[in-house]
Amino acid sequence: MNFESRADASGAFHAASQAQPNIALVKYWGKRDTALNLPAVGSISITLDSLWTRTEVRFVPGQKQDVVSLNGRSDEAEAKRISACMNLLRQRAGVDYGAEVASHNNFPTAAGLASSASGFAALVHAGARALGLDLSLAEQSVLARRCSGSAARSIFGGYVEWTHGQLADGTDSVASPLLDAEAWPLRVAVAITSKAAKQVGSTEGMRRTADTSPYQSAWVDTQETDLSVARNAIHARDFDALAQISEYSCLKMHALAMAAQPGLLYWNGATVECMHRVRALRQQGVPVFFTVDAGPQLKAVCAPSAIEQVKDALRDVPGVLDVLDTGLGAGARAIPVGELAR
Ligand code: DP6
Repeated sequence: MNFESRADASGAFHAASQAQPNIALVKYWGKRDTALNLPAVGSISITLDSLWTRTEVRFVPGQKQDVVSLNGRSDEAEAKRISACMNLLRQRAGVDYGAEVASHNNFPTAAGLASSASGFAALVHAGARALGLDLSLAEQSVLARRCSGSAARSIFGGYVEWTHGQLADGTDSVASPLLDAEAWPLRVAVAITSKAAKQVGSTEGMRRTADTSPYQSAWVDTQETDLSVARNAIHARDFDALAQISEYSCLKMHALAMAAQPGLLYWNGATVECMHRVRALRQQGVPVFFTVDAGPQLKAVCAPSAIEQVKDALRDVPGVLDVLDTGLGAGARAIPVGELAR
């Protein structure tokens, strides 16, 4: 492979990429293979636009270790996951260069805001380009999936489905777009109810759930129907149908996780109050529904005309610290090197 054209003045190979978090409407929870990070169920998500991760990767020939900076800080646990992810790319390229990785999020990290999804999508996108690997988006999605499942979906924009897949090697467990963001430009208000890192991460939460929750098999058995209902709602732009199936999938996932031992309780009081507020708005005819991932933040998905009313209502809930507002956006893409925090 000829790296010369990509090397900077010091002989290193670098690239930078941006990816946005995605929010699952039909949730991924559980793995059929932990080594390859294959999901027990398929899932459907929306990719956001104004929240982002920007990541710069520099592979340095002769360097043995990876050096990782996340929002200007080092984090040992995350650095390990990032090195494991870079190993997949190094294997693919047949090199052993150490990497310098710098990543910046413009939203709270590790508090249930899908930072691993945007983080690993941006990392795979930038790392593959830095090494001159010519990977299709589907191949990038498979690699991102191995680093963090939900990252498979952030490679793509708009409405995205990640399939469970049948093959043992996982090459068919890949995300693909269902509908462009512009074709149905819903908005999302994110109620931040805590800025603390969650106590039990998704990987550990899924393991505990599969090992101990009595509802695990019912969850897996009912997912195909939920996916088909959501897919149809998206293709028909049927807001009410999407609202029903999304809240159902969210509450079902949390019920499953709450029934683990010890039970996983990702919500705080404000999360629950926000759910009631969203349902009250919908009863008044406002097109809005909620979803919550493995953390206490509530995401309210609504029609563009309803966004100000939804934000005002969430801001009014005691315990809500902040309300972010975003549309739906594009998938992972290249950005100029040196523009990380801009
Ligand atoms: C609740 O993708 O973070 O957000 O594959 O173990 O890295 P790992 O898990 P992760 O799990 C996301 C779980 C979820 C639901 C979803 O995004 O579908």
